[in-house]
Amino acid sequence: MLERVRKARHRYRTTPKDVRRHYRMHGRQWLFHLQSELMERESHWMGIRALKNPLDAWVYQEILHEVQPTAVVELGSAFGGGTLFLCHMLDLLDLEAPVITVAHYHGAFAADHLRITKVTGDSGDRGVIDEVRDLCADRRVLLIHDASHDAAVVLSDLRNYSPLVAPGSYLIVEDGVTDTIGGQPGPLVAVNRFLRESADFEIDTSRERFLLSYNPRGFLRRRSTDDSN
Ligand SMILES: C[S@@+](CC[C@H](N)C(=O)[O-])C[C@H]1O[C@@H](n2cnc3c(N)ncnc32)[C@H](O)[C@@H]1O
Repeated sequence: MLERVRKARHRYRTTPKDVRRHYRMHGRQWLFHLQSELMERESHWMGIRALKNPLDAWVYQEILHEVQPTAVVELGSAFGGGTLFLCHMLDLLDLEAPVITVAHYHGAFAADHLRITKVTGDSGDRGVIDEVRDLCADRRVLLIHDASHDAAVVLSDLRNYSPLVAPGSYLIVEDGVTDTIGGQPGPLVAVNRFLRESADFEIDTSRERFLLSYNPRGFLRRRSTDDSN
């Protein structure tokens, strides 16, 4: 008993006030805090703005290592920090894999790397879909959806781009927090509808084990014939 009190006192005395305040945050508050850091105070990968939850970025590293993709498609480019992060992970893995990044506009895109191919246009545009498909021909594709967060648009993108994803690889649908925290029909609604239509994908909840993901139920793994063995 005395030992417990002694430890509690020590914890209290040695934990700075601002750190104590952080520890009292609920998960939801932490996610809001992260969002305001990312959107307002900025978060960077190698000097370029990256709109990524760092806990999710670690999980991406694990998935890339396991899947060993030979092409990565990112729908939604923004400033390019997320794109450059993917390039650097592929460099570390020494994989011959381009990173194809799609957005309406690349005027603010600041990443520069030999792996990057920018496709400028609406993700739902037939020409854009065909261009991405051609760039991915015969490649083992991992796809990250981080473009529009409107449920209907996400669902349409999932229908259009999911056939590119290789068996055993992942279709990562970012920002389900738009639904869970933001209270708007977004990626999570789209994922639920998509999974009702497609038996090819399953949610891999093990990718949410760090708990505070921006992508709840967003790590979709394409089933492979090896799964039954
Ligand atoms: C959340 S940001 C992407 C963040 C980026 N992936 C990162 O990790 O830093 C969303 C981007 O998608 C683009 N976008 C939104 N809807 C789109 C659509 N339907 N087609 C193409 N780009 C879209 C936006 O202009 C913006 O550049």
